[in-house]
Amino acid sequence: MTLTEPTSRRAATDAPLITPLVERWSPRAYDPAAEVHPDVIRTILEAARWAPSANNAQPWRFIVARRRTPAFATVHDALSGWNRAWADSAALLIVNLAEVVDPDGRARPWARYDLGQAVAHLTVQAQHEGLHTHQMGGFDAAPISEAFGLDTSLDVVSITAIGVLGDAAALPATLRERESAPRLRKPLQELVLVAE
Ligand SMILES: Cc1cc2nc3c(=O)[nH]c(=O)nc-3n(C[C@H](O)[C@H](O)[C@H](O)COP(=O)(O)O)c2cc1C
Repeated sequence: MTLTEPTSRRAATDAPLITPLVERWSPRAYDPAAEVHPDVIRTILEAARWAPSANNAQPWRFIVARRRTPAFATVHDALSGWNRAWADSAALLIVNLAEVVDPDGRARPWARYDLGQAVAHLTVQAQHEGLHTHQMGGFDAAPISEAFGLDTSLDVVSITAIGVLGDAAALPATLRERESAPRLRKPLQELVLVAE
């Protein structure tokens, strides 16, 4: 088994960060036999629940699909090509939804921003629990909305694959190469426009 060496994927940070942030990365190789215990699923969703949001609206909603369930098959089928090729071995696929219109019909301009924060909380907690996560924007939202009967107030924003790190050798060659590509970030001075 050629597990990607976790230490080689650690972020080369320019300042000291908490461990889950240093160790988080987005693998494509997951252990196809590993399950996530229901208590751990609850814990990572709880991390999302405690994210901040505009007016405390908490506009995030989730569809949690465990491998080998009909819901998983529905979500997996909606993924685009390469995502579909690797995400089948994840233990969970979580569909991340933003309630962009409130119950009174008013637009919620921060809903997608708030959802992103909740998903970030979830990914960091998942990393702390010994799991890995990989967010995806490459999917077709329409079949997901239809299959789960989602209200039009709910935007299907992203999907997160979650599981235990697996064997990179099991991936197609193109994906295997991406799995060991250098992890790069823009320098901080390019990101901070003003710092007085
Ligand atoms: C909103 C969003 C959409 C993404 N969409 C995809 C995707 O469709 N397929 C994929 O393989 N990775 C996807 N990614 C993963 C990014 O490519 C990845 O986070 C980025 O390259 C940084 O790598 P790292 O997470 O390992 O640090 C997505 C990430 C985010 C946050």
